[in-house]
Amino acid sequence: MLAPTPPMGWNSWNTFGGKINEQVVKETADAFVEQGLKEAGYEYVVIDDHWEANERVDGRLVPNEKFPGGIKALADYVHGKGLKFGIYSCAGTHTCGGRPASYGYEEIDAQTFADWGVDFLKYDRCYVPSGVVAPPLYWRMGQALRATGRPILYSVCEWGKDKPWEWAPRAGAHMWRTTGDINDSWESVFKIGFERQVGLHSYAGPDHWNDPDMLVVGMHGKGNVAKGGCTDVEYRSHFSLWCLLASPLMIGCDVRAMSEPAREILLNTEAIAVNQDPLGRQGYRVGEFMHGSRPTPVWAKPLEDGSVAVGLFNLTDLDKRRVSVAWEAISIDPKRPCTVRDLWAHEELGVHTVEFTAQPPSHGVALLRITPQGAG
Ligand code: GLA
Repeated sequence: MLAPTPPMGWNSWNTFGGKINEQVVKETADAFVEQGLKEAGYEYVVIDDHWEANERVDGRLVPNEKFPGGIKALADYVHGKGLKFGIYSCAGTHTCGGRPASYGYEEIDAQTFADWGVDFLKYDRCYVPSGVVAPPLYWRMGQALRATGRPILYSVCEWGKDKPWEWAPRAGAHMWRTTGDINDSWESVFKIGFERQVGLHSYAGPDHWNDPDMLVVGMHGKGNVAKGGCTDVEYRSHFSLWCLLASPLMIGCDVRAMSEPAREILLNTEAIAVNQDPLGRQGYRVGEFMHGSRPTPVWAKPLEDGSVAVGLFNLTDLDKRRVSVAWEAISIDPKRPCTVRDLWAHEELGVHTVEFTAQPPSHGVALLRITPQGAG
């Protein structure tokens, strides 16, 4: 199994877009080690679109002038740090950025990637010729990757258009995007995370994960998909939800220059443990109250030791809304005493029965681990 728990890493798109180059990728790999990201479990360093030259050479994809050392040497560099290396292509004739892509070249491109030592392929959906049905193109690349004999994690990016959760696992995918692109704004996190992931939990599990797109934590309104940025409270809610969703954790900020709050969020080992829990269950929404048009949802994720991770979210514009989780809503006997631990404050909040209530700030979260006494 290549992805028994959700893949963790970094992708160049959110911050660098078309401005990605070899030096940035190397420095990112260095930062993985120096900043403790590797130790926390982040593993894949992935180059998104715009690494490709505008023409193939002898039928093969080649990198453009921003990667003078070639992709194989870059993959070697990343491997030398004990990390894994990922790249991007597209099921159509061109990538979304207009570079050559893999339509009709699936086998040759898969072999090229394997020859370079690629460990991860993100496969996009732009420029699929009209009249061509997309899912078979994803099957074809999945089959081509398998035929190389190299274990390559397959990340399907068709934006949820053809319900990939229904077919992508059998096309060989380890993860698949469920929506269009995220951007660095609270509105985007709210829509993509809190609205669009509802109802998908039963499709995810070890080796096959729903992907609500890369993290914008720590972008602070700077970079390719910046759109005003989020507050640190909002980034915490975003990260908490992605952990509860058993989402791949692909960092999108510039890890060479992380802010302190970003570091604290991305390196919260207790939150990461929820995401990486070996049971591999995706969290689901267990309740939601509306306050006008803004909710206070509760999301829960069962964990292997019998405890339940719970996010009490206050998505309203008012501070200190009361948000509660009833034991019954998370399948625990109301009389059962449970310890409650706050995974952001890193402290025990006592033993409780029946329910637990928190008062998160506006757009904030209380991320908890609720453990029935005697379990674990
Ligand atoms: C699409 C994808 C993004 C990114 C860009 C690259 O929009 O959904 O994640 O890969 O293409 O051009």
